Amino acid sequence: MGSVSALEILKSRVADQQARGLTRRLVSVVPSCGRFVSVRGRRCLLMASNDYLGLAAHPRLAQASLEAALACGAGSGASRLISGTLEAHLELERAIARFKHTPAALFFPTGYMTNLGVVSTLAAEGDLIVSDQLNHASLIDACRLSHAEVQVYPHGDVARAEELLSQGPAHGMRLLVSDGVFSMDGDLAPLPALLAAARRQDALLVIDDAHATGVWGATGRGTMEHFGLEPGPEVVMLGTFSKALGGLGGFAAGAPEVIEALVHGARSLLYSTAPPPAQAAVALAALELVDAEPWRRERLHTLSALLRRRLAEAGLVVACESGPIVPMLTGSAQAALELAEGLWQRGVFAPAVRPPTVPEGASRIRLTVTAAHEEQDIEDAAQALILAAREAGL
Ligand SMILES: Cc1ncc(COP(=O)(O)O)c(C=O)c1O
Repeated sequence: MGSVSALEILKSRVADQQARGLTRRLVSVVPSCGRFVSVRGRRCLLMASNDYLGLAAHPRLAQASLEAALACGAGSGASRLISGTLEAHLELERAIARFKHTPAALFFPTGYMTNLGVVSTLAAEGDLIVSDQLNHASLIDACRLSHAEVQVYPHGDVARAEELLSQGPAHGMRLLVSDGVFSMDGDLAPLPALLAAARRQDALLVIDDAHATGVWGATGRGTMEHFGLEPGPEVVMLGTFSKALGGLGGFAAGAPEVIEALVHGARSLLYSTAPPPAQAAVALAALELVDAEPWRRERLHTLSALLRRRLAEAGLVVACESGPIVPMLTGSAQAALELAEGLWQRGVFAPAVRPPTVPEGASRIRLTVTAAHEEQDIEDAAQALILAAREAGL
């Protein structure tokens, strides 16, 4: 009896969400990366992936995965603190630290687990976290998990962030937390001002460069490089291998004291089995490719600029001025669904993004460009969006 009513409760919760136009479906996309995919039986140009450099299908990553699995096995067998730390993890962590110009780094199974582990270890009860309003869900969840006081500042408002930091506990930790590139909007955090504020307020600055690593900065090091900054000991850089780096896994890079604290306290690292050797090998190969194939980043930015130009010529307004994330706001969830359907009918796959992923009234289509695209793909995607937007009355 009890389990029947529990299932009824779950059904009615989902039905509530569906009644608000927020139905969620797991739609199969075949293959998962590259230029073209099959979605609901239609061949579509893929304009929704975070595989910004087009590395997910790179033969060198597949080869690295295969060789590591054949040499070291499919799994790591235990958590990092027991018997799960393999030479592949340590080699990768040295490479991440070199890549991010920090003294030390730590590899996590995913970016989400990185954020949970880092924020909830660095801040605890009695501490203060000051967090951007549009930070990624993983950072929001991490703040909740920490039991610290959390203060949210309006998006990008550094003056308010500093004011909140200045009201922090005299002896506790102050953490200033921001996405480096905001995942749904594509804009960059005002990093120079955030860093200056963190320094003045004796705070640690935690930057999640999930969408910046490999994409921003002359050599793809991320937002610090883009702004001409070097990470000092007060900066903790976070990132993921799941987007521009084409694989899976997250990392934290920073001062040895920070990494040591994470090894002692990050529960998402300590109480989860270590990533398999193949995952670490793929990540290492991807870091090498960022340096070996800089044309990918250049092409990505050239194609991103082309898409924006074509949309602007047609009078369409997008929410961000540069970079591979091109969001077009529709307001209502229903309008976003209609626009996504219009795109799919024209052979372009870019699903609707709706609350709670974005705030109420800020539903959108989020197009993403990758280095795997051809110039003609971008022309086709722009044309499809222009026609679908007209049809939807946007
Ligand atoms: C800003 C940001 N941080 C963290 C994550 C989580 O990374 P991962 O997919 O590796 O768990 C994502 C996306 O998924 C993200 O957009």
